[in-house]
Amino acid sequence: MPVYRSTPIAPSEITGAALYARRRDFIKAAGLGAIAGALGVRAGLAAAEQERGKRIEGIVKSSFSLDPLNEKATPFDKITGYNNFYEFGPDKDSPLKHAHRLRTRPWTVLVEGEVKRPLTFSVEDILKWALPEERVYRMRCVEGWSMVVPWVGFPLNELIKRAEITGNAKFVEFWSLADPEQMPYVRTPFLDWPYTEALRLDEAMHPLTILAAGLYGEVLPNQNGAPLRLVVPWKYGFKGAKSIVKIRFVARQPQTVWTKAGPDEYGFYSNVNPDVDHPRWSQATERRLGEFFKRKTLPFNGYAGQVAQLYAGMDLRKFF
Ligand code: MTE
Repeated sequence: MPVYRSTPIAPSEITGAALYARRRDFIKAAGLGAIAGALGVRAGLAAAEQERGKRIEGIVKSSFSLDPLNEKATPFDKITGYNNFYEFGPDKDSPLKHAHRLRTRPWTVLVEGEVKRPLTFSVEDILKWALPEERVYRMRCVEGWSMVVPWVGFPLNELIKRAEITGNAKFVEFWSLADPEQMPYVRTPFLDWPYTEALRLDEAMHPLTILAAGLYGEVLPNQNGAPLRLVVPWKYGFKGAKSIVKIRFVARQPQTVWTKAGPDEYGFYSNVNPDVDHPRWSQATERRLGEFFKRKTLPFNGYAGQVAQLYAGMDLRKFF
């Protein structure tokens, strides 16, 4: 496992926090807090259209979040400085170094496949559909490291409800951008680009599955998958496609970038399962970024109570 290299606080973080404090002072001084609150709610995620590092307004705390007394959020610099985003290079610090090249506006998401008619939505449209929720989720990478991330996002099912899917839609694919001009590593054969992932429709509809547009109350940094990325907290992190440009509904279980890269190592389901080892290493324990001692990995990453019934009757050693 590679060694974590700590990174300084991004200037964007400092700027974002300062801007936020100034805006709050202004609102207080003008006595407009209540009005701003009401207007801010739905417009909140739409504000993500602006620069990275900016605060998202009107965030509501989600009841799906982990209890903050039991689970401490991983520091911002670790969540944003130790990443997998292979379009920008193979190392954990490649995304932090290179993802500033990604232009996240204008940005559209095509919704197609088993739908009445294909639709293209701007990211601004999408972000207006639902309240920005803070979802503090436990995340675990197949490589054995984990984090607790205060995502800001909304349930994917809000988008699926608007997609007018047909009765044939059984799976959903997520396609990430693959633009060699902005993402130098897609010129290499490291993966079969574009990066694609997929879920079964019921997994995609589950209320824990979100599209994230921010973290720590700020617009998502590019290295974490701006402007929109998938987050599925009971699956290994690689299911969470970043910088999504296409969502495609299909009738049959599709290949994903990882099942193509190594079908024996990366199954379609990819549920966090301490009892099923990766062929090259154990999945029984994990190291939380910033901590020294390893901890036991929990089945479904600790979300068994909410999601285990999705897999009732399935042999999860076979469908790993
Ligand atoms: N999405 C794209 N487009 N490209 C990637 O390389 N890496 C995946 C997933 N989504 C990846 C991606 C992997 S392997 C992991 S562990 C998570 O993103 C990491 O997300 P994070 O960097 O925000 O922690």
